[in-house]
Amino acid sequence: MRKKVIAGNWKMNMLPNEAMAFIEALTPMVKDTPNEVILCVPYVDLFYSLLTSQNTNIKIGAQNMHWEEKGAYTGEVSGKMLKSIGVEYVIIGHSERRQYFAETDETVNKKIKAALANELKPIACVGETLEQREAGKAIEVITEQTKLALQDLTKEQISNIMIAYEPIWAIGTGKTATSEDANNAIKSIRQEIEKLYDTQTAESIILLYGGSVKAENSKELFTTSDIDGGLVGGASLKVEEFSKIVNFQ
Ligand code: PGA
Repeated sequence: MRKKVIAGNWKMNMLPNEAMAFIEALTPMVKDTPNEVILCVPYVDLFYSLLTSQNTNIKIGAQNMHWEEKGAYTGEVSGKMLKSIGVEYVIIGHSERRQYFAETDETVNKKIKAALANELKPIACVGETLEQREAGKAIEVITEQTKLALQDLTKEQISNIMIAYEPIWAIGTGKTATSEDANNAIKSIRQEIEKLYDTQTAESIILLYGGSVKAENSKELFTTSDIDGGLVGGASLKVEEFSKIVNFQ
C-alpha cells in the first residue's frame, strides 16, 4: 500500500523565527502520524527549519531550484546547494512559477533531473487552467505535462518522484475540485505513468492533490482510490489546521 504524504507549501510566507516556532508547535501534534509530513519553506527558512526539525518526523523541502550546479545565475539556488544543508525535497514547476516566472515543461524536466542527480526528491506539479477545464481539455493537459516533466527518466528514478495535481483554478481560491474530479485526474496521471513505464511503477508512485485543501475536506480527498495525500498552501500556515490535515484519518 502506498503511504500518505502531506506536504505544506508555505510559498513566500514565514520569517525564520516564525518557521522555528511553527515547527516546535507542530512537532508534538504530528509525532504519532503514520503519514509523511513535509514542509516546503522559503530559502531563508531552510537552515533554521532543518535545525528545528532534527529528531522529529517532519521533513523539509525547498520550493524551487536551478538546474545548473553553479555559475553566473544571479539570485538562483542550485540542487547541490540545497542538498549540502540537508534538504530532502523540492517542489518543481509549481503553477505560480510557470505563470509568474516563465517556467516551461522543458525547464521543469531539467530541474527534476538536476534534483534527482543531487539526491533530492522532487514534488513535480501539474494542473490545468479554468479555461482548459471548461474546454474539456483538463485530462489532456495534465497527462501531457506529466509526460514532458518525466521525459528521459528511468523507472528507477521515478521511484523518488512525487507528482502533485493542482488545478490552477483551485489554488488559493477556496474552490476545491470535488474528490471525484480530483481522483479521476490523478487516476489519469497514474494511467499515463503506466503507459510510459509499467503497472508496478504506476501503482507505487505517490500522487498528491493540491488546491484549497483544508482540514474539513482532507479526509474525503485523501481516502479516494488514487489520491495519496496533499500539497497544502494556505492551510499549511496555520499550525492547528495543518496538524488536522496531517492527522486526517
Ligand atoms: P492552496 O495552495 O492550498 O492555498 O490552494 C496550494 C498550492 O499552491 O500548492
